[in-house]
Amino acid sequence: MREIKTFFVKTYGCQMNELDSEIMVGQLEQRGLSRIEDESAADLLIFNTCSIRDLAERKVMGKLGKLGRTSQRNAVIGVTGCMANAKKDSLFQKIPHIDFVLGTNNIHDLNNVLDDVLATGKQSVKTDDRFTTELDYLSAKRDDKVKAYVSIIRGCDKFCTYCVVPYTRGPESSRTPESIEQECRQLVSQGYKEIILLGQNVNSYGKDKPEWNCLFHDLLYRLDRIPGVERIRFMTSHPVDITRELMEAVRDLPSLCEFVHFPVQAGSNRILRKMHRIYTLEQYREKVNMLREIVPEVALGTDVIVGFPTETEEEFQMTFDVLKEIEYSVAFLFAYSPRKGTPAMRWQDDVPEEVKQERLQRLMKMQEEIYQKQRQSMLEREVEILVEKKNFKDSALLKGRTRCWKNVLFPGDESLIGTLQKVRIHSYSHQTLLAELIGVSNLIDR
Ligand code: SAH
Ligand code: SF4
Ligand code: F3S
Repeated sequence: MREIKTFFVKTYGCQMNELDSEIMVGQLEQRGLSRIEDESAADLLIFNTCSIRDLAERKVMGKLGKLGRTSQRNAVIGVTGCMANAKKDSLFQKIPHIDFVLGTNNIHDLNNVLDDVLATGKQSVKTDDRFTTELDYLSAKRDDKVKAYVSIIRGCDKFCTYCVVPYTRGPESSRTPESIEQECRQLVSQGYKEIILLGQNVNSYGKDKPEWNCLFHDLLYRLDRIPGVERIRFMTSHPVDITRELMEAVRDLPSLCEFVHFPVQAGSNRILRKMHRIYTLEQYREKVNMLREIVPEVALGTDVIVGFPTETEEEFQMTFDVLKEIEYSVAFLFAYSPRKGTPAMRWQDDVPEEVKQERLQRLMKMQEEIYQKQRQSMLEREVEILVEKKNFKDSALLKGRTRCWKNVLFPGDESLIGTLQKVRIHSYSHQTLLAELIGVSNLIDR
């Protein structure tokens, strides 16, 4: 049997993949392997991949192709994550030097698959279509000491026509409230200050298990009661499943941060229908208005796709107008990328790349003006921040986040990392708010 001692993990894609990597690291450490940062020295290499857009896949394929041409042919190489489910064993034809392919729904099989590869020297693949087993979340090896991801629901049943996720992660599967609560309690007792509840669509939580009688807002009330829990966030939300009860929870629960990411994707009803987003712009706007009425200080986040098949200039303009009207405080903007196996592949990708890029630029420019206005309005305000880490570029500065997810830099001692502080914002530089410390937050000012 081949022997391995060290491993290296590289993660692509979203927070769900980051968490899955943390779980895999926990499992590998439990079997006595050590994680190292030097890729070229590791005995096992794991690439936890993403399929959401063509660029995400190209990055991984480029990386894997290059590995085959280096001297690291002795390392065991595994491909995990969404590309594993999207491409399954066809990956072996494309990249013959990889040893195993492990899908998003098979993370618990990692050590078995690895044993198999080490014992037989043969390639191994496991890519179940749906998630069935409870994962060992408690032994996840977290990258961060202050905030922690907690998976509450895996998979997606929405089938937006452009999106690979329902195929790469399978149908929705909620995790029991007991298990979620147990993990959150453990995290709080370990000193974590912020819990980020994860799911492709967190507000579908519990709908697949009506017998539990615990919908997303019920879960939030339950978690907020955990003694010592400081902040709870959640992402992402599908607009259709955002309920009044959830909005009231954002207003009423002290730990729940006033930030809701619920992507609009497009501003034209024809495009929304073609995307199978199952809401009209009017229905979306109604939810925004209701949310802002119930939680006036709420910050909103969105994702947008430009250049969806058949999108006209006028229809793009509608997307532009919605972003201008709603003034999101976070907006992730993407050019449409056709994905194999999705219904949108039926339609020709007829918006030329340069038009997509030009629309993207126009949106970014307008959104930057909104950010600028928002930064301006933050000046002189006193806010609560959770101190996350030293600033990457200038280590005399610490980085924290407001409850509304804005980054703030301020001078302070490292010992403040992991604490809630009150700061006064005095200026900004590029995209970042600059502040000075006022004192320990008593959790009153949001
Ligand atoms: N579950 C989340 C989003 C997951 S993917 C939600 O529905 O809100 C993150 C974002 O990537 C999506 O919101 C969408 O804006 C973008 N995206 C997904 N598929 C895409 C594609 N084929 N091309 C371009 N952007 C895409
Ligand atoms: Fe993809 Fe739509 Fe599901 Fe989000 S809701 S993961 S965009 S299918
Ligand atoms: Fe990518 Fe899969 Fe996440 S496709 S964005 S890693 S769910």
